[in-house]
Amino acid sequence: MRIIACIGSHRKNGNTARAVALLEKELRTAAEENGAPLTVETVFLHELHIEPCRGCRACFDRGEDLCPHKDDLLSLRDRIMGADAALFASPVYVNDVTGTMKTLIDRLAFLCHRPALHHVPACFLATTGGSPTRHTLHTLQGAWLSMGGPSVAALGLKAGALTGAEEMQRHYGRKLKKLARLVLSRAEQKMSSRPGFGSLLVFCIQQKARRRLCKGEKTETIDARYWRERGWFDMGCTFFVPHRAPFFRVTAARALGTLLARVF
Ligand SMILES: Cc1cc2nc3c(=O)[nH]c(=O)nc-3n(C[C@H](O)[C@H](O)[C@H](O)COP(=O)(O)O)c2cc1C
Repeated sequence: MRIIACIGSHRKNGNTARAVALLEKELRTAAEENGAPLTVETVFLHELHIEPCRGCRACFDRGEDLCPHKDDLLSLRDRIMGADAALFASPVYVNDVTGTMKTLIDRLAFLCHRPALHHVPACFLATTGGSPTRHTLHTLQGAWLSMGGPSVAALGLKAGALTGAEEMQRHYGRKLKKLARLVLSRAEQKMSSRPGFGSLLVFCIQQKARRRLCKGEKTETIDARYWRERGWFDMGCTFFVPHRAPFFRVTAARALGTLLARVF
């Protein structure tokens, strides 16, 4: 089992790094109990070379390989896609993720057009000085869901300016332990075989909206080709991969998705 942790904080000994280290410890304990070898790859995003998006749309219109930036983005994308689970952690900066984390999200925006993350369950952490973490976690989770990724859980930690590992453990130890077990079990179950309501809903909205877009296009775009080649436009297709989600969940997600797709 390989888990990749992407950290959007510059402080290597800061609150976010500490929270990730505590979660990693819990993941290792849980993996040991399950007898499953675990590798955790921690990536500080600021140590990579990832340029801000220029908005040229080359990735959308012609493919991500034609992005004018030749930096570490695509190799990080491959590492994320090759992991069994992912963790994204960011401090709250003025109520949202840090610029470093947002740069990563923006540069991966082509995955919202051509989702490829349905096999990588992810969890999300946000640390804050005191204000709510909801918006920051929503940014992280929303981006992941749009890229086709299943979201396991999200946890916000109030940490002040700097919180010691012991204090953080005292306040959040139980929650981090629960989160670690959940992430491991979802990664082992291959979560994409039982997608949640949110994942089914996002799939349905994207499918209906893209089908509608296709009708007005003279030549097939790379997004349309990507969806068509995978059979995602087919009438009976309800998710990126064959799945065993309960009938009621699928029906409810499709009913709401059909309605929402008309609005978008
Ligand atoms: C530029 C900046 C903006 C921040 N904005 C907020 C904020 O809007 N609300 C808040 O409660 N804390 C805010 N904080 C505090 C951090 O979210 C908090 O201390 C976090 O745990 C720091 O994580 P780190 O140690 O990994 O950098 C901000 C800190 C910085 C440096």
